[in-house]
Amino acid sequence: MNINKNYLELQDSYLFSTIAKKVSEFIKANPNKEVIRLGIGDVTLPLAPVVVEAIKKAADEMGKKETFKGYGPEQGYAFLREAVKKYYSRKSVELESDEIFISDGAKSDLGNILDIFGLDNTVLVPDPVYPVYVDTNIMAGRKIVYADANESNGFLPLPDDSVKADIIYMCSPNNPTGAVYTKEKLKKWVDYALKNNAVILFDAAYECFIKSDELPNSIYEIEGAKECAIEFCSFSKTAGFTGTRCGYTIVPKTLERDGVKLNKLWLRRQTTKFNGVPYIVQKAAEAVFSEVGQKQIKENLQYYNDNAKIIAETMDEKGIWYTGGKHSPYIWLKCPNNMTSWEFFDYLLNNIGVVGTPGAGFGKNGEGYFRLTSFGDREKTIEAMKRFRSLF
Ligand code: MLT
Repeated sequence: MNINKNYLELQDSYLFSTIAKKVSEFIKANPNKEVIRLGIGDVTLPLAPVVVEAIKKAADEMGKKETFKGYGPEQGYAFLREAVKKYYSRKSVELESDEIFISDGAKSDLGNILDIFGLDNTVLVPDPVYPVYVDTNIMAGRKIVYADANESNGFLPLPDDSVKADIIYMCSPNNPTGAVYTKEKLKKWVDYALKNNAVILFDAAYECFIKSDELPNSIYEIEGAKECAIEFCSFSKTAGFTGTRCGYTIVPKTLERDGVKLNKLWLRRQTTKFNGVPYIVQKAAEAVFSEVGQKQIKENLQYYNDNAKIIAETMDEKGIWYTGGKHSPYIWLKCPNNMTSWEFFDYLLNNIGVVGTPGAGFGKNGEGYFRLTSFGDREKTIEAMKRFRSLF
């Protein structure tokens, strides 16, 4: 038996596991210090009341013979796919039901989708970016090239015709920088993909933080994208489902390579390896799209937006350079006093008990930067910023 040696090329542990381990060691050594976590982008507000009601009702249905459900439809229940379809049509993106696949979250599908692509493809990943894109491709042994995102391009790299890529990852609003592609800039990537026969994997997990009608929530707002892009989205950040688990992946039927519809390949993959999301959870997700659901989740999103403002104001006050926080739950700041991002991580943790995410964990261009999340509890965010001010 041989192991998959590609795993040996990975860093010892996943970024957020490394942070969690460091924090628990710190707590063990300093049991009396209160640690405030603004590291992993995990939500803190409870599920919206209408979502909780839907879960209870669905649980009751599962407890009665007449309404009990076994295996669900392979791509997800029609009621949820219809709700997703309707959600997209608000921005004039028309989808067909069988282009929508209900999943247990964006992260799983962003990794799993790679099953349908050959190992000889070159993968283009922006740097810095969500580490899952890189790690999943290292596991598979694919060649990875990077597109530099930095202050000079506003952390929004554009295609370089001299670079040949077959699979392109994009995340907008970006994790970790909070940068958002305009339609014009996104169009350049769509044009590049069409010209090079490449496929864009578009991570829209943070689209609900976009506050301008001018900015695209979906890559399908760009002409030609249905011929070259797969989109991933999730209820995690939108509706607090990080622990409930539900998302969706869009594979347009017009997306073909080598004369084969990628939709067909993905369906084949999913029906073989995935048995769907629980009925109870799909009912919860459906409630998110109801009129009252939309109102309730917007209140929660406003809470996080206000947290972002509190963090941003502190950075302004201290003259610390940052970006994000506007159409994104993340504040991406420059580490003061030329500290490296892990030095800054230790400095904050040891001196004020505040946890963030070191930029270097998102790629080499993240070195010297640091990410704070606005998903924390309000009082704790205020307290963290009070401690931050006392330090600088
Ligand atoms: C993050 O902190 O980047 C996210 O919470 C990770 C994720 O969504 O998996």
